[in-house]
Amino acid sequence: MAEALKIINLCKTINKREILKNINLTVEKGTSVGIVGANGSGKSMLFKSIVNLITPTSGEVYVLNERVGAKGSFPQNVGVLIESPGFLPNLSSFDNLNLLASIRNVIKKDDVKKAISLVGLDPEDKRPIKKYSMGMKQRLNIAQALMEKPQFLILDEPMNGLDRQGVKDIHSLIKKLREEEQLTVLMTSHHSEDIDALCDKVYIMDNGILSEQGETS
Ligand SMILES: Nc1ncnc2c1ncn2[C@@H]1O[C@H](COP(=O)(O)OP(=O)(O)OP(=O)(O)O)[C@@H](O)[C@H]1O
Ligand SMILES: [Mg+2]
Repeated sequence: MAEALKIINLCKTINKREILKNINLTVEKGTSVGIVGANGSGKSMLFKSIVNLITPTSGEVYVLNERVGAKGSFPQNVGVLIESPGFLPNLSSFDNLNLLASIRNVIKKDDVKKAISLVGLDPEDKRPIKKYSMGMKQRLNIAQALMEKPQFLILDEPMNGLDRQGVKDIHSLIKKLREEEQLTVLMTSHHSEDIDALCDKVYIMDNGILSEQGETS
């Protein structure tokens, strides 16, 4: 199957409120799909069900051909950025990412440093990240998603808090990874310039209903 993601009839109801309404979505490998929609429309809930942070009320999710939710497992080769990550405030950027890298143990310290450099931070910066600005933490969050060289990147508002240069840098980085590594991307953004620059296909989330907007030029 040449699909990085397949969602079939996904529903999520919380306290009798339907948050996600019969979502169907396929993301082909090597493509980049954007999801736009108003605050509270269900984008982050959808992403959380894709990465097994919430359990759907019904429906199925397959990531890289693995059923999500089965035995609480989550496929490798997927990089995820969703809302504020659980970084440890008293550790440096390197120590934070190195700690996370030790969970899967598939990359070396040098790869961690490379990922930190790629997002424009200094891997030798020994300051605890509680001294980082919001944009610097967001860059670190992107480095965390990228460091294990995933095939599939899932990014919920990756440009949040980034300055103009930061947005430019991350655009270039994602474009380069898409060209060189045939990376698959699923992302949300409230800025049309991100979606226009980075996505082949756009879907709109409206009050829990996902519909296709069509191809971007
Ligand atoms: N933990 C929760 N318990 C109950 N309802 C929740 C919870 N988290 C979110 N919701 C509700 O789910 C709906 C969808 O929220 P979600 O965070 O997915 O929106 P969103 O599209 O990501 O919005 P934004 O653009 O602001 O990030 C909202 O109505 C929200 O109130
Ligand atoms: Mg959200």
